[in-house]
Amino acid sequence: MSKIAVAVLNRKGGVGKTTVSVILSEIALVRHNRVLAVDLDPSRNFSDALGFMKNYFRNSLRVKSTLEDSDADAPEEWIVIDCPPNLDDDSKHAIDFADIVIVPVRPDFFSLSNLGIMYAAAKKSGKEKSQLPLVKVGYDSSVMTKIANQLISERDYPVAEELPLHKHIPYNITSGRVWSTGLIARSRQPYERLYEKILTAVDRLNSGVTGINEVWTDRKEDEAEDADI
Ligand SMILES: Nc1ncnc2c1ncn2[C@@H]1O[C@H](COP(=O)(O)OP(=O)(O)OP(=O)(O)O)[C@@H](O)[C@H]1O
Ligand SMILES: [Mg+2]
Repeated sequence: MSKIAVAVLNRKGGVGKTTVSVILSEIALVRHNRVLAVDLDPSRNFSDALGFMKNYFRNSLRVKSTLEDSDADAPEEWIVIDCPPNLDDDSKHAIDFADIVIVPVRPDFFSLSNLGIMYAAAKKSGKEKSQLPLVKVGYDSSVMTKIANQLISERDYPVAEELPLHKHIPYNITSGRVWSTGLIARSRQPYERLYEKILTAVDRLNSGVTGINEVWTDRKEDEAEDADI
């Protein structure tokens, strides 16, 4: 299996970057991969959450707070990079380093208004837009969701997955339990799908395919988009 480097980034705070980083790491670990977790956010939420997980995955999880180019040669199969809510040099380095950058977005204007700058930075790193797909978090039947969906389709942003809002995730954070083990099997499905899609996307990139938009688009998403119109 090829090595996977995935960063999770949005300049907007509180959109779910760390949650996605933790759950992707946990899925990779449960599937018997080793994970190098890179926590670039000084708040250290990712490291703290993984601190609890270290009790379960002592030998296969390594956590650090800086990203070096030499990490490309790390022994771990997965590198998960949680970025701070800004586009500083560390985040730009993460864009440059990662195969795929997951961009969680809430259905609000500020989640979406800064994406142009991020895509411009990605272009400088030679990354295709399709390597930075959005993940919609908490998109529902509200007017704000409708407006956000319209903006996303007008700007032709790739969308990898939709994640619902879960009641119990914050409780698990406060109790210090591994987050996604608190999710019932059905709630885990979108995260598992995202994980699988990242695998497929990196496989395709490694075999020389550049446009990977079709990896992100599946039937369920098409139906969800249709339902919103
Ligand atoms: N799918 C979800 N369902 C319910 N709550 C969620 C979900 N994703 C994230 N949250 C909650 O939203 C809050 C912010 O999430 P998180 O810390 O992952 O965002 P972030 O983008 O990493 O924030 P920051 O920019 O501050 O680093 C947390 O309390 C988290 O538990
Ligand atoms: Mg965070």
